[in-house]
Amino acid sequence: MEGGGQLTQVESDVVRRQFGCGAGQHAGVVRQLEHQRGLGGCGQQREFGRVEVAYAGKALLCTAMCRIMQQEGMALDTASTGELFTAVSAGFPLNKVKLHGNFKTDELLGMALKYQVGRIVADSITELQRLSRIAVEMGKEADILIRVGPGIKTQTHSYIQTGQADSKFGLSIASGAAMEGIKLALSLPGIDLRGLHCHIGSQLFGLDSYARTVEMMTEFIRLVRAETNWTCDELDLGGGLGIAYTPEDAPPSVAELADVICPALKSAAEAQGLPLPKLILEPGRSIVGPAGTTLYTVGPVKVIPGVRTYVAVDGGLDPATGDRPEVARRGGVAAVVGGGHDGPGEGVFAVGLDATGET
Ligand SMILES: Cc1ncc(COP(=O)(O)O)c(C=O)c1O
Repeated sequence: MEGGGQLTQVESDVVRRQFGCGAGQHAGVVRQLEHQRGLGGCGQQREFGRVEVAYAGKALLCTAMCRIMQQEGMALDTASTGELFTAVSAGFPLNKVKLHGNFKTDELLGMALKYQVGRIVADSITELQRLSRIAVEMGKEADILIRVGPGIKTQTHSYIQTGQADSKFGLSIASGAAMEGIKLALSLPGIDLRGLHCHIGSQLFGLDSYARTVEMMTEFIRLVRAETNWTCDELDLGGGLGIAYTPEDAPPSVAELADVICPALKSAAEAQGLPLPKLILEPGRSIVGPAGTTLYTVGPVKVIPGVRTYVAVDGGLDPATGDRPEVARRGGVAAVVGGGHDGPGEGVFAVGLDATGET
């Protein structure tokens, strides 16, 4: 790579030849494991007894990534049969695996129980009921977190806001669904409720959303305790830390994130009269995104005069590298390698292979 961090024509040709690239492979190695080190350190410095950092596999998962995370002592988030299968194939310690998703089939729940994954993150009332039934049938106990919607709207692209009331994920605090889900989970056979989870969105630059989330969640945990006598032992605040896609972007560092979350949780727990829960974070993009470059080949170019120009590339738009619609649409990621082009111009949109209309 040249000093500026851009691939030269020669380098891109080498990568292409070596890896058969052109289908959006992520040609890089992970070098961003400061989360684990930074937050682990924060745990010690701030007298946090228990901190766990789980890599959110949806950002980029293959067996090699699983092995790196294992070496780093990290936990792993999965959100599909394929991701769970990858973790199993890599020999990743399954007691450190979490399973997420707003629609987990019976088969997937059964697979998670069979492999005894560390935590299943329940997303709905019906999922809780199905999980209980399947666990009882299999003679297993499911250790779960419940995904809660804290009602926090973050400053990020609407496609990746997930903490607000209008979200497909989780049980909302405001509507009463979260409390209902907790009571149900406490009453169901085959279910052991260990804690609560939330994930307010991705590509976040403003750390105040995390502080508000901590406040919301601890206040809710106090209410739950008062109403049910159940004490939340694990609080998972999800991922979301943003990364730079353009030279102008200045995302907060992991240390800055820890400087907000750790004291906020400590003082909120004290203020609410709660024991300090285990703090869990689930970074994805901020670990793997800055670690590499995705190489695409430009295909058809569709010019719609006076409207815009679509440039099709031969891959999907990958969250790991930032080639998500919101980024591609503001032209932030593209750098043209070779071919005598100047780079993307105004009104030029990169689009991937996806069959959906969005990307
Ligand atoms: C439940 C959950 N946890 C963690 C993440 C990772 O988020 P990020 O890659 O923004 O850190 C996501 C991303 O969608 C998620 O849905």
